[in-house]
Amino acid sequence: MATTSTSGKAEGAEAYSGDYDRKSELKAFDDMKTGVKGHVDSGIMKIPRIFIHDEIKKEEKEKLKPAMASTYKVPIIDMEGLHTDHTTRRSEIIKEIRDACQTWGFFQIINHGIPTQVLDEMIDGVRQFHELDSEVKKQFYSRDLTRKVVYNTNFDFHTSPAATWRDTLYFIMAPHPPTPQELPQVCRDILIKYSNSVQKLGLCLLELFSESLGLHKNHLEKLGCAVGLSIFGQYYPACPEPELTFALRDHSDSGFFTVLNQDTQIGGLQVLHENQWVDVPPLHGALVVNVADLLQLITNDKFKSVVHRVIAQKIAPRVSVASFFRTIPGDVDAKKVYGPIKELVSDENPPLYRETTTEEYLMHFQKKGLDGTSGLLRFRLQKEGN
Ligand code: OGA
Ligand code: NI
Repeated sequence: MATTSTSGKAEGAEAYSGDYDRKSELKAFDDMKTGVKGHVDSGIMKIPRIFIHDEIKKEEKEKLKPAMASTYKVPIIDMEGLHTDHTTRRSEIIKEIRDACQTWGFFQIINHGIPTQVLDEMIDGVRQFHELDSEVKKQFYSRDLTRKVVYNTNFDFHTSPAATWRDTLYFIMAPHPPTPQELPQVCRDILIKYSNSVQKLGLCLLELFSESLGLHKNHLEKLGCAVGLSIFGQYYPACPEPELTFALRDHSDSGFFTVLNQDTQIGGLQVLHENQWVDVPPLHGALVVNVADLLQLITNDKFKSVVHRVIAQKIAPRVSVASFFRTIPGDVDAKKVYGPIKELVSDENPPLYRETTTEEYLMHFQKKGLDGTSGLLRFRLQKEGN
């Protein structure tokens, strides 16, 4: 049955409802609480239409093919010697990070101090959760993003123009972690270990970011850029019609920065660089680091929060663990005000953004959903004369 908005002004998912009752289909899917994985396991050969991205059908089909061997390569930075050789190697690493954050917004790190075994076990833990019996997983299924442990399909399922082919297990790990008993047993121990390691690595990265910007090494830590940590265990099941949807559509991340652990079997992560989709190839033992929106805002565009996506594939599942350094609405730390850092602005380089809080930013990001536009636009100051 066709749905017409009686208000005359459809918004969110309704605006894209076409000639079917999209809202009811979203609700029916969500009420099952079995995720995309449950759907795939039921043996479907076609993807439900709530997952179809019309813009792909029209113009993006060509671009959806895995990027051709590109002349561009996402930088790989070797952190060996960072803590022992304080003179030469450290300053080389800082320079590499500066170049990567200014031109790519993305880089991979190796010899970062977290053992490969810990990375592998974390991926396995997330995989095992998603492969549990539906009845066990259902206990965690929720749309309440203030809960510390949540499992669902797409945080923006009901607001984005079209859903994407993934399920997520989501944890708020800092500053106030859940109790161990609140965590799913299959990944409890490794999650705690992994989260502690990523927090330490996050502080180390903040020192390097600060120095790359010419600031005192403690500057960004003192600003609270690593106070909050949310970890997303992403599971992208095999997709019978990968050309019609995404695993994760084009977006930039909402926090200060992200550390991503991707499994080594299945690729699919791509970064938009110089108008080309460039693959971020899985590299066993490496972590992918990227600048997120709030770091672009406080660095006044010195560092770039770059658009990236994950393509859906027939070969799957892909598993990844994304650690977002950001505080959560409702938390006192999320009320801290951020604007472009004073040391980074001048008469020639005036502030490009108005001040905001992580709470305001994240609420805007979550409400907007992944719709292909940057959350930063709302905070950008208009140039005089515009
Ligand atoms: C994200 C993200 C990439 C991936 O969760 O924001 O970009 O490979 N993930 O899962
Ligand atoms: Ni992302």
